[in-house]
Amino acid sequence: MLTTLLSDLDHENTVQHGHAFAHTNIALVKYWGKRDTTLNLPMTDSLSIGLPGHGTKASISILANEHQIIINGAFLATEHPAWNNLHAYLENVRTITQHHYLLSLDFNIPVAAGFASSASCFASIALALNALHQWHLSTASLSIMARLGSGSAARSIEPGFCIWHAGTQEDGMDSFATPLPTQWPELCIGLLHIDHGIKKQSSRLGMQHTQETSLLFHAWPNQVARDLTLMTDAINRHDFKLLGETAENNAESMHACMQSSQPALIYSLPETLAQKQRIIALRAEGLPIYYTQDAGPNLKCVFLATNKEFVLSHFPDMTVIHPFGATA
Ligand code: DP6
Repeated sequence: MLTTLLSDLDHENTVQHGHAFAHTNIALVKYWGKRDTTLNLPMTDSLSIGLPGHGTKASISILANEHQIIINGAFLATEHPAWNNLHAYLENVRTITQHHYLLSLDFNIPVAAGFASSASCFASIALALNALHQWHLSTASLSIMARLGSGSAARSIEPGFCIWHAGTQEDGMDSFATPLPTQWPELCIGLLHIDHGIKKQSSRLGMQHTQETSLLFHAWPNQVARDLTLMTDAINRHDFKLLGETAENNAESMHACMQSSQPALIYSLPETLAQKQRIIALRAEGLPIYYTQDAGPNLKCVFLATNKEFVLSHFPDMTVIHPFGATA
C-alpha cells in the first residue's frame, strides 16, 4: 500500500523538519468494523465533521539509528500503550524511505479518551512526513496515508464535513475521505468532558470484538447505509433536526452493537447516562440539542449558535467548537 503511494517519489529531497497540524474529527455516521485490519479498510462509508484548532501538531526529522517519539514534551517509553502503533507506522514508512525518524507530537485534546486523538495524530504525521520529504501528495493520497495509522484519521486531512469512502479495492487505493462542499456556520459542537482517563478498550480491539461476537452487528451496515442517506440530506438542506436525530440514533445503534458483544463492551459511565438523560429532557422542554458518543464515556453535542448561551447555562463546562468559524 505505502509502496504504491510512495515508491516512485524522491525520498532524498528532504528539508530539515516537517511540521503540520491536523484537526480531529467527530463522526456523525460512525465507522465501526473493518474489512481489512492491516490496511484499516472499513466495512462501510462514514461521515464526519472536523473540529478546527483541536488536534495534534507533529514535527518530524530524520534520525541516524532508531525511531524516537516524544508526546507532549516527554519521550515515549517502549512500554507505553501508544508506542506499538506509532512505531509500527514509522517502520512501515522506513521500508520505503530507509530513514529513522524523531517524531514529536503535541496534543491540545485529551489522548485516547474517545476524543478521536488517533485521528488527528496520524493525519498530522502523514502531513508532516509529506512536508519533510517534499512529496507533494494529493489530499486523497494523504488521506490514505493517514488511514494506515488509524482509520478515522482518513477524515482529518480536509476540513468541514467529510465522507470516508469504504472503497472496494483490496489494496485500499479507493478508500479515502473527500470533503462535502456544504458549509453550516450556525452549527456548534459541544464537548462534554465526563472522564479523561485512557479508555479501557481501544477502538481497534473493540471493533474487532464487536465484529466477532455481536449478532446485532449484522444489521450495522444497513443502519449506516440508511443514516448516510439521511445525514447527507440533512446537511444539504441544513435540516438540523434530521442531522441531530440521525447522529444520535447512529451512535446509540453502534453502542447497542458494542453492548451485545460477548462479553459486553460498555464505554459509558453512570455519568454518561445521566448526561444523556439531561439532554433528552432538555429537548423535551424545547431545546434542540442532540448527542453522539464514540469509544469512550465522553459526549459530543450538536446544537445551533442561536441556542449557545442557553446550552452553556445548562452545561457551563462544555467546550464549544464552531466547525465553520463563529457566526457574528
Ligand atoms: C468510534 O479510527 O480509532 O471513533 O482504525 O482501529 O485506529 P482504528 O480505529 P479508530 O476508530 C474510530 C471509531 C469511532 C467512530 C468513528 O470515528 O467513526
